[in-house]
Amino acid sequence: MAPKTKNLIIYGDSSYAQMIAHYFQTDSHYEVVAYCVDEAYRSHDEIEGLPVIALEEIEKHFSPKEHHIFAAIGYKSVRTHKTLYEKIAKCSYPVASYISSQAIVDSTSTVGENCLILPAVILEPYTKIEANCYINSAAIVCHHSHIKAHSILAAGALIGGHSTVGESSLIGFSATVAELLELGDETLLGAGSLLLENAQAHTMYVGTPAKALRTHKETGILIVPENLK
Ligand SMILES: CC(C)(COP(=O)(O)OP(=O)(O)OC[C@H]1O[C@@H](n2cnc3c(N)ncnc32)[C@H](O)[C@@H]1OP(=O)(O)O)[C@@H](O)C(=O)NCCC(=O)NCCS
Repeated sequence: MAPKTKNLIIYGDSSYAQMIAHYFQTDSHYEVVAYCVDEAYRSHDEIEGLPVIALEEIEKHFSPKEHHIFAAIGYKSVRTHKTLYEKIAKCSYPVASYISSQAIVDSTSTVGENCLILPAVILEPYTKIEANCYINSAAIVCHHSHIKAHSILAAGALIGGHSTVGESSLIGFSATVAELLELGDETLLGAGSLLLENAQAHTMYVGTPAKALRTHKETGILIVPENLK
C-alpha cells in the first residue's frame, strides 16, 4: 500500500462518496480522516468509524494547512455535482484528485483537480481532463481528446480521438463517442448509445446511431426518476 503522506476530508456522505473514500484509503498517499456535509444535510455522526462533520465546523477540527479535500458528489444531478465542487474549491483546503494505480495514464495526459480516474481507465496520449471530472472504471479516452470540467464518463464509455466533450456532460455506461466530434455543454448520451455526429448543448441523445431525443436546458442532466429525487 502507498505510504500515507497527506490527510484527506471527503465532502459528501452518499454510497458513491464511500466508494471514493475507499479508493483514496486503499490506493493513494491520502489518509482519509473524516467526511463532511453541509449542516442542514447531516443525518449521521459517522461512516465506518470516520466522523461526519458539518462543513461549517470543519476548520475547527482539521487545519487547511494539513488537510486536503475532495468533493465526492455523484451524478444524479450534474448541475449539483458542479455547484458543490465550486463551493469546495473556494474554501481554504487544497483540492485532491484520485488516479488509480490500475489506470493507464499517458505521461502527456493532464488531469485537473477534484478528478477521479478509476481502475482500468485508459487516458491515451495528449488527452486533457479538466477539473471535477469523474472517469469511471474501464472508460477509454482516446488520443488528443478533451473532457471539459464537471463531466462524467460512466463505466465502459469510450471517447474517440480528437473529440471534445462539453462541460457538465454525462456519457452513459458503455456509450461510444466517435472520433473528431464536438459535444456541447450538458450533452447526455444514453447507456450503450453510439454518437456519430456533433451534439447540441443541453440535449439527450440515445440509440445506435444516437439521435437527439429531447432537451434538458431548464433542469440540467438528472439521472434519477422524478419520484426518487
Ligand atoms: C438516457 C436515459 C437517461 C433516458 O432515460 P429516461 O429519460 O428515463 O428515458 P425513457 O425511458 O423515457 O426513454 C425514452 C425513449 O428513449 C429510449 N431510450 C432511453 N434510453 C436509451 C438508451 N440508452 N439507448 C437507446 N434508447 C434509449 C427508450 O426506449 C424510449 O424510447 P420510446 O419512446 O421509443 O419508447 C437513460 O436511458 C440512460 O441511458 N441513463 C444513463 C445510465 C447511465 O449510464 N448511468 C451512468 C451513471 S455514471
